[in-house]
Amino acid sequence: MKLSDNKATMSFANGAPSIELPIYHGNIGPDVIDIRKLYAQTGMFTYDPGFLSTASCQSAITYIDGDKGELLHRGYPIEQLATQCDYLDTCYLLLNGDLPNATERNDFHKLVINHTMVNEQMQFFLRGFRRDAHPMAVLTGLVGALSAFYHDSTDINNPEHRRIAAIRLIAKMPTLVAMAYKYGMGQPYMYPRNELSYAGNFLRMMFGTPCEDYKVNPVIEKAMDRIFILHADHEQNASTSTVRLCGSSGTNPFAAIAAGVACLWGPAHGGANEACLNMLEEIQANGGVAKVGQFMEQVKDKNSGVKLMGFGHRVYKNYDPRAKLMQETCNEVLAALGLENDPLFKLAKQLEKIALEDDYFVQRKLYPNVDFYSGIVQRAIGIPVSLFTGIFALARTVGWIAQLNEMLADPEYKIGRPRQLFSGNVKRDIKPIDQR
Ligand code: ACO
Repeated sequence: MKLSDNKATMSFANGAPSIELPIYHGNIGPDVIDIRKLYAQTGMFTYDPGFLSTASCQSAITYIDGDKGELLHRGYPIEQLATQCDYLDTCYLLLNGDLPNATERNDFHKLVINHTMVNEQMQFFLRGFRRDAHPMAVLTGLVGALSAFYHDSTDINNPEHRRIAAIRLIAKMPTLVAMAYKYGMGQPYMYPRNELSYAGNFLRMMFGTPCEDYKVNPVIEKAMDRIFILHADHEQNASTSTVRLCGSSGTNPFAAIAAGVACLWGPAHGGANEACLNMLEEIQANGGVAKVGQFMEQVKDKNSGVKLMGFGHRVYKNYDPRAKLMQETCNEVLAALGLENDPLFKLAKQLEKIALEDDYFVQRKLYPNVDFYSGIVQRAIGIPVSLFTGIFALARTVGWIAQLNEMLADPEYKIGRPRQLFSGNVKRDIKPIDQR
């Protein structure tokens, strides 16, 4: 954080003395005005619900240029990471600041696969859930419960504990997501196989059964890995900010990540891929491509409450670069599975074409986000719609833990404690019950 020569002067119409506020430069992106002493100097807070203009922390992990549609992890463009690296390379990068060399890569892969099993007791914990429970309800519970199983990595003041907790979370999430799926299906859990890739192992734990060998299809394996890379981190989004805020109280990493899982579940965030696929299926059931025009009219009608799910983003005011890569994967997977004529894919393309040309979307700079095509890919792979957000959580775990560990190592970090503009009753006395 570099102090700028520039300063902000805040003056007040009521004649109160003006104050000067320091400004800092980031390496790229907008400068920030440091308002930390504002309350002490003026007795006033700033008001910014939804954090529209507020940087909540400094971070060196991910940078998004929403106008250009650019996403960089530790400086590397997402397009290069998605095409030249795998998910575990991306995890190493997010956690450590740079890509691994050959030895580091090998060691990191070994480290992660040595932690893929979960405590055997976990399956009895899982049994407490109804079989038809939503996988995100189950995952919130399972991830939170990790803190009850791994007592030797819960001390956030110990860097070694933080490092082990990170590896455990990255290694165990695929096992937990697959267990949640198998439990819902009533099928036996599949133990991890360490000779497989991270994505290949996940696919086998999901779709393998003890009765026959499961052969990993390389196109699907690559697609799964890309889904993981594209969801790995996205700077200070709602779930990451939740993890930071939760972790700022000093709670253990598993509890903080469970809070992130809970936040991700919402349809305005990670739940959008599920909501998007449900939307496509509903349009398809109501007449398909022929009814797209009618649906779009509803979307543009403010009173309808209908949104085009998978479109729009708080930061991107251009095409989400992850959506382009996901569309490419979508084409590859559908071709490999002989599903090029998939009606939902056709429908999605039609919706996208109309939206990109329609004034409503153009004026508001609404473009497809990563979730617009990720649901179609996952459905083609055989993943049930209700598990889409769980897969997002699996992939985002590395981002959450990298951001949490970055915060804990930052000497400037404090417990997160926003203030408020109070609009309730001023002090009053309780009346006897017969006078209320
Ligand atoms: N369909 C129709 N209209 C939309 C959409 C949409 N998907 N998204 C935004 N708008 C409209 C809003 O109604 C608003 O219109 P107005 O100016 O006439 O009032 C304008 O565009 C600006 O939208 P906001 O809601 O103010 O933008 P915000 O930054 O608060 O919301 C969000 C971003 C939540 C992602 C929103 O675009 C949305 O709900 N999209 C659909 C859900 C979705 O796909 N979420 C995934 C996000 S990406 C992720 O988590 C991986």
